[in-house]
Amino acid sequence: WPDGTHLAGSDLVIGGVGATRLAARFGTPCQVLDEATVRNRAKAFLRALPEAEVVFAGKSLPCPEVYRWMASEGLSLDVSSAGELALARAAGFPGQRIVMHGNVKTGEDLKAALQHGVSRIVVDSFDEIAQLGALSRHGQEVMIRVTPGVDARTHAAITTGVEDQKFGFSLASGAALEAILRVVEQPSLRLTGLHCHIGSQVRHVASYEETVRRMVGLIASCGVRVEQLDLGGGFCTPYLAGESSFDLFGFAQRVRGTLNYECALHRVPVPKLLIEPGRSIVANAGVTLYRVCAVKRGVRTFVAVDGGMSDNPRPALYGAKYAVRLVGRGGARKPVTVVGRHCEAGDVLAEDVPLPADVHAGDLLAVPVTGAYHHALASNYNQVGRPPVVAVRDGVARQVVRRETEEDLLRRYV
Ligand code: LLP
Repeated sequence: WPDGTHLAGSDLVIGGVGATRLAARFGTPCQVLDEATVRNRAKAFLRALPEAEVVFAGKSLPCPEVYRWMASEGLSLDVSSAGELALARAAGFPGQRIVMHGNVKTGEDLKAALQHGVSRIVVDSFDEIAQLGALSRHGQEVMIRVTPGVDARTHAAITTGVEDQKFGFSLASGAALEAILRVVEQPSLRLTGLHCHIGSQVRHVASYEETVRRMVGLIASCGVRVEQLDLGGGFCTPYLAGESSFDLFGFAQRVRGTLNYECALHRVPVPKLLIEPGRSIVANAGVTLYRVCAVKRGVRTFVAVDGGMSDNPRPALYGAKYAVRLVGRGGARKPVTVVGRHCEAGDVLAEDVPLPADVHAGDLLAVPVTGAYHHALASNYNQVGRPPVVAVRDGVARQVVRRETEEDLLRRYV
């Protein structure tokens, strides 16, 4: 739950605003986002690694208002398309603090990045190096995405540091070294640094330490000055009670120590460190409110709500697990399966979660840890409008993304 979340009577208070009131005012489903929690997490990263550039992974919660919070906290921003860059520009995010990512950047993405002064573009293929080299006029700074061959031991769909997947230049095969030389050869490009991102929901600091060792080895062997080393994001966030949280200060200490040691060993200058947290900044700040629409009691009890895989595809995509809480009532609880409104049997939000035995239509449910990759992954499946994002702070609630209407949906059809 977001910092400071508490019960007042049986209502759930988030950012000083009751969930009951939020649901009445903004409707359901509704994605509530606690501003203080987001800002606290951003500050925690800056405190843990004051020497590093902390880059918010904008894909985790694409929203100009959230980007403004990050800018004001002193973070940089990672965008992975011209679209995310457009949101960053709408937020007035300074170009010198924007990094562009993506294993595919179209000509439009690259042109937008060049036109709007994105400070660093992380190249991910030889085709891209050639294309960017031809488009760039002013010594565009680039970083090279390297596949270090480190298994972060997380879900296969979000494991990105191993060989034989689509991201980056392989270190082991020599492609990364070759990419460094190609960039250095391009007069219109300037090599600023190396980048890697081994995955998301990474639990073990040792995975990052091993990554640092390999990346410094590459820096030492390439014979080119590398000013920046970007270790990506992926810091694990607990979704259920009892799951341990990522040891950020331990991470900072061990990664800093390994980096200094390896650089001394290889006699290379210590590069400036970059990290790119997304989920670990915004996930826990989010709570989704749903209204129960129907309850079916059979072998199992199915509690059907007014949202589902269109606002949260994560259970279907990654087998992600969520806790669910009924707002407004307590009582003896029984395990139920919370399902969505979409036309698929796989549209299940949470299995075997304890809810009051008398759960019925009209009840309000709250699902925590829904701030990251929820708004970002939401779809219009079954032409259900995407929910709003409502920011709460000091007892005040305001929409930072409004609910999608039928008019919005119809606008694209010819
Ligand atoms: N940097 C790069 C280059 C990335 O691709 C990502 C996430 C991050 C940083 C931030 O990772 P984080 O700190 O948020 O774990 N849709 C999936 C997650 C996909 C992650 C994509 N890349 C999910 O809902 O679990």
